[in-house]
Parts: sequence; C-alpha cells; structure tokens
Amino acid sequence: PVIVVDFGAQYAQLIARRVRELHVYSEIVSHTVTANELRERGARAIILSGGPKSVWVEGAPTLDAEIFTMGLPILGICYGAQLMAQSLGGRVERTRAGEYGRTTIQRCSENGVLLEALPDTFESWMSHQDTMVLPPEGAAVTASTAQSAVACFEDRERERFGVQFHPEVSHGEFGREVLHNFLFRAAGLEPKWTNFSIIEESIAQIREQVGERNVLCALSGGVDSTVAAVLTHEAVGDQLTCVFVDTGLLREGEADQVVTLFSSQFHIKLVVVEAAERFLSALAGVLDPEIKRKIIGNLFIRTFEEAALGIDAGGFLVQGTLYPDVIESGSGSAALIKSHHNVGGLPEDMSFALVEPLRFLFKDEVRAVGVELGIPEEVVWRQPFPGPGLAVRVVGEVTQESVGRVREADRIVREEILRAGLGRSMWQYFAVLAPSLRSVGVSGDERTYDAPIIVRAVDSDDAMTADWARIPYEVLDVIAHRIVGEVNGVNRVVYDITSKPPGTIEWE
Ligand code: XMP
Repeated sequence: PVIVVDFGAQYAQLIARRVRELHVYSEIVSHTVTANELRERGARAIILSGGPKSVWVEGAPTLDAEIFTMGLPILGICYGAQLMAQSLGGRVERTRAGEYGRTTIQRCSENGVLLEALPDTFESWMSHQDTMVLPPEGAAVTASTAQSAVACFEDRERERFGVQFHPEVSHGEFGREVLHNFLFRAAGLEPKWTNFSIIEESIAQIREQVGERNVLCALSGGVDSTVAAVLTHEAVGDQLTCVFVDTGLLREGEADQVVTLFSSQFHIKLVVVEAAERFLSALAGVLDPEIKRKIIGNLFIRTFEEAALGIDAGGFLVQGTLYPDVIESGSGSAALIKSHHNVGGLPEDMSFALVEPLRFLFKDEVRAVGVELGIPEEVVWRQPFPGPGLAVRVVGEVTQESVGRVREADRIVREEILRAGLGRSMWQYFAVLAPSLRSVGVSGDERTYDAPIIVRAVDSDDAMTADWARIPYEVLDVIAHRIVGEVNGVNRVVYDITSKPPGTIEWE
C-alpha cells in the first residue's frame, strides 16, 4: 500500500481517499510508525500529511528518521514537507507570513516530475504559517509563490518530494494531477485497486479466516451490514446465516425489502425474528429517550442471542465496521483497534470472532462495492437510520399507534423527496411525531385538536455537524398537505431549521 502518515490533521483521511480514487490502495498510520513497521506493512510509497502544529513548537510530531533513508518514495504535504525540510538539511522559518486559501503557484525553470504537464502558474490551496526557505539538501525547488520561496521541491534521485500546498483538497487546481504524478511517474506504481480487486481480495481473506466454519450476521437493513453480508456470502456461501430482528420500529417496507433481497435475490440463509410485540411492551409507558435507547439495545441483544443459540454459528460474527471507525480507534495501528461500530449495539463481550470485510473501506467505496455485487441502488444509497429506529422519532410514548403514524409520515417524506429527485443530495430526511403536543386546527368545518409532525432534513458529511437542508418550498408544501391529509391524528406540519450543533440530527 501507499502509507499516509497522519500528523494530526483531518487531511490524512482525505489524502488516503484521493489516492484510492486513483486506484492505488492506501492506509493511514500514526506518525509514531517505525521504518520496520512500514516494511512489515509492505509500504510502496509514503505520504506525510499536513498537521496543526509548527515544526518549531515543543512536542511537535516527528517521524522515525530511518523512514527518510529506507529508499521509499516520499511526498510531504504542508507540515510533512516542512518536517522533511527541517530533518534533511533544509530550513523552515517562523516568518508568520502565512498563506491561507487560494494561492498562485509559479513553477520555476527547474522542471520536476511532480508538476509535469501542469501549466506554469496555477491556483493551489494553502494553509500554513511557517515557511520553508531552504529545501532538503540535494532537492531542487520547482515552484514558489509570492510569499514562499519554496512551494514545491524534489530530489528525484532520493525520491523525496514536498509541496507546501494541499493537493488533496478540491478547492485548489491540479491536486489530482500532482498526486497522480507522485504515484505513477515518481513512485512507478500501477493503478490496480478497483472494486473488482477489492471484492476478490475480501473474498480470499474471508475464506482464509473462516475456513469450513459457520458465520452469523446480524442484519440491520442498512448499507454496511448488507454489503458485509453479501460479500461474506460470496466467500463462504451457505456457511453464512443472517439474522434479522424485526423490532417493529422499522420504516415501512424495510422488513419486506430485507427478506426479498436476501432470500429471493441472493439466496442467503435468513432467520427473521418477529419481535414487534416484545419491543412495544418493553417500551410501554417509557418517555425518557435514554431509557428508551437502553431498553431497545438490551432487548435487541437478548433477541439476537436467543436466535443465535438455535444456529450453529461456529464462533464467527460479521460486522460492517468501516475504515473511519478503525482509524478513529487508534490511527490504523492494529494493536489499538477496537470495534466500536456495533450493529444494533451488540456487546463487545459476546464470544464471537469478528469478520469485518469492510474495515479498510470508506463509505463511498462500500457503496461502489455494493453496486458491483448487484445490490439494488435504493439499498446502496439508503440514508442512515438510527439503531433504535422509529422509537427515537416519537417524542413521547412509543405505542403501536404512534409508531404507525410516524411511519406513515416518514413514507410520505421519503416518497416526495425521491419524486423531486433530491434523494442523494441530502444526508437524511425524515419525520418526527410529537404525540403529546397538541394544537388546534380546522378540518372541513370541524375543530381538530391533534399532534404535529416535524419534518427534519439535513446536509452533512459525517453526521458530526449538520445544517438543515433547504428543501424547495413546493416540495415542502406537497409533503405538508399529504401528511395532514393522510396521517390520522396529525393536523399540523412544522419544519425543523436547527443546525447541529446546537441541535442534533435526531430528536431523541
Ligand atoms: P444525532 O441525532 O446524534 O445523530 O445528531 C447522528 C447520526 O447518528 C444516527 N443515530 C444513530 N445511529 N445508532 C445508530 O446506528 C443509534 O443509536 C443512533 N442514534 C442516532 C442519526 O440518525 C444520525 O445519522
């Protein structure tokens, strides 16, 4: 792989994704990685990311010096480039004449391979305060800016390259070309990482891990567990059994869709546990959101365990853990990784070994793999849905009736958003019911005194922050009319225009 060394900026993930978009497999490691560890991982090239610190401050992150001399092509980006300059005989100064945002790059007469085929000047994206004034010893300066004498350097012989700008962000020009030049012209790699190769490799790995034994998978109906299950089935066929717990808290059509997809299309062994009554009675009279979540989480585990007891699973459990979860639990260093992405909140002390075929993939890669495996688009592009389901979208007591109402409203919201062609443009869009809040309305000549539906729709990249989505008024209008007309006991529709923070995406 190409190893992206993380110096603490969020940019490392972006760099790894950009490299993968060029069909080269990449992994992220912490800057504490040693040259030996890189050898063990089979590193073919190294990219040093940017970082929030100055190379001059006490405790600024450094790199095992041996890595610079181990003969691998290295590209330093921003902090990474400055660290190379400082460690390898160049110079970085605290000029405080930083550059931020779009900055014009001027190529020098010295033409390098990194900027090959780029125009003489182009707009890059900068974000730095210190300035490189001398490149590493033996490296030539290949570009500068009005403020920075060294915006780009390279030492072709020792395969050391550095850019002060950020080729991984989309705000600058020719970033993709710079990474392309590094990977293919400088490092001589080949673009071999494709959806097809991902699938082939995963299948081989699962077969090796599992052997002749049996595997269990808890399906949530979401993208990740679906793709993980189908991949595992490709690898071990009937050794896999999927368990789907129908909590009665799912969206309309969801349970049927899972059954159709898994049984009819993929012929995967599927155990459906009908547990709606059980969940409803456990939730009776409960109003507190945290208690609701706990009840649902615990009951889910118990229900799943009961189902699992009847299946000879051989000790393996499939989980749809994704690469960002893995990175967040310890920057890719295997010893530190713990799985925190539990389907339906399965406990960590369950005595299963985990099969995690997606643990090196980003969400967009999971979707692409899903399409390649023949999973329908509407499943692959499904919006995120909380584990506790519609229960956290009833602000108040969860009853058959209240869940039924919010489910109907949710169907209407989804139908109209999809009809308007807005499905993929938003992170999430759904309905929330507030059954205990009532307002006066009028219907025909009759006074009504009923509950409101809150429509919630957000734009987000990762659910950590979100902004309310600007759904066109015409679409909101149709949604509102339909909900009041079609959902019993609802006489008002309001639109939630709170961002996160201070709000959260869900209401509970
Ligand atoms: P909040 O409401 O915290 O939600 O802004 C952030 C994202 O997480 C989803 N969500 C959950 N997902 N189990 C999940 O798998 C849960 O218990 C859960 N609660 C919230 C929510 O839909 C949003 O995408």
